[in-house]
Amino acid sequence: MTWADLIVANCRQLLTLAGPAPRRKRGLRDLGLVEKAWIASSKGRITFVGKERDFKRAVRVAEKAVWVDASEMVGLPGFIDSHTHLPFAGSRVEEFKLRLKGYTYEELSRRGMGIQTTVRATRRAEKDELVSLCLDRLDKMLLHGATTVEAKSGYGLNLADEIKQLEALAEARKRHPVDIVPTFMGAHEVPPEYRKRKKAYVDLLVGSVLPEVKKRNLAEFFDVFCEEGVFSVAETRYLAEQARRAGFKLRLHADEFTPLGGAELAADLGAASADHLIHITPKGIRKLARSETVATLLPGVSFFLMMEKKAPARELIEAGAILALASDFNPGSSHILSMLVVVQLGVFLLRLTIEEAISAVTLNAAFALRKHKEVGSLEPGKKMDILLCDLPDYASLVYELGPNPIRWVIKNGQVVVRNGRRKLDEIHP
Ligand code: NIG
Ligand code: FE
Repeated sequence: MTWADLIVANCRQLLTLAGPAPRRKRGLRDLGLVEKAWIASSKGRITFVGKERDFKRAVRVAEKAVWVDASEMVGLPGFIDSHTHLPFAGSRVEEFKLRLKGYTYEELSRRGMGIQTTVRATRRAEKDELVSLCLDRLDKMLLHGATTVEAKSGYGLNLADEIKQLEALAEARKRHPVDIVPTFMGAHEVPPEYRKRKKAYVDLLVGSVLPEVKKRNLAEFFDVFCEEGVFSVAETRYLAEQARRAGFKLRLHADEFTPLGGAELAADLGAASADHLIHITPKGIRKLARSETVATLLPGVSFFLMMEKKAPARELIEAGAILALASDFNPGSSHILSMLVVVQLGVFLLRLTIEEAISAVTLNAAFALRKHKEVGSLEPGKKMDILLCDLPDYASLVYELGPNPIRWVIKNGQVVVRNGRRKLDEIHP
């Protein structure tokens, strides 16, 4: 017998995304829409998706079950933000103002600002401060639909401060309903004290930091900023191979500001994802299309840095690459906590269809984290992570810019956002 302790009844439109993962080409347009849908879960896992008649026949409702009337709502899987730099301290608003006066992101970085500013602030911060910053940001992300969030270190850039960032994530993970997928990104930048001896920094990462992160089981993925002036293709390959040998899964920052060949490298390494790709080459596109490495685009960066150039989303889809979208939430190049905004930028800046953009933040984003068996679609057996939006139809997710239509968020079968507000007893226990 199928049981339910939480029932979402009579959803106007339910986007189930049911079916195989990942999605390529036209597959990205299949949202598995069910009208007047019922969906139920027991102990956090989905047990039923379908029509009222079948629900009544097949499902036994537990005595203290929670019922949600969704007759005015559009339902869809919780968003998966597969690329964020969540645990940092400090603000870059002063540098943002400089950018508005005409300084470029790269210029600021050459003058010792940019990532370095955030490294200084993050090194100064206590772990508890990072924890509360993470919790506060996760609340905002959740209100805007994210139920799973990847989060990278990479503003510590030494043993103690990288570990501090990752421990802050581990603590936030215990105290917040959003699922956190931690990534160790000590190779985000070369710290100032190693500027003239990059090799020594690479050796430090491989010889000390990587083994410590592994020993303490603080990260699932390893990421490198493969970029001119940061880590070359050869250095990235070396770092990634060492990390893989140590047991990490891989993802890369690739071809963000220059066409260095990071996408090709990610495909060669069998990385889970190659991210950014604003400057990916035709060869890179072909390689990703033939691989299981997800092309994760971060349209917030082109938007926030006001770049003319955008990642070639349409070419990637047409070639057959697995496309995902993420926020890249960070203080410098994409200060965006809302996955709803990311969906909208996917459509307005990258020319995705609404269906493609939704697949790119749900099922394909789950695949980018290799969590597609757990989350990313609404199917029996998966986690009950669902958003209920006060909208006439799903296209209005993009058409109605500005107000946040997400009224309910259910995470692991628990109501964590009710009537557009975080449930008070849920906040930071
Ligand atoms: O993904 N590209 C490198 N890292 C971030 C930016 C980090 C920062 O500016 O603090 C990114 O864009
Ligand atoms: Fe990033």
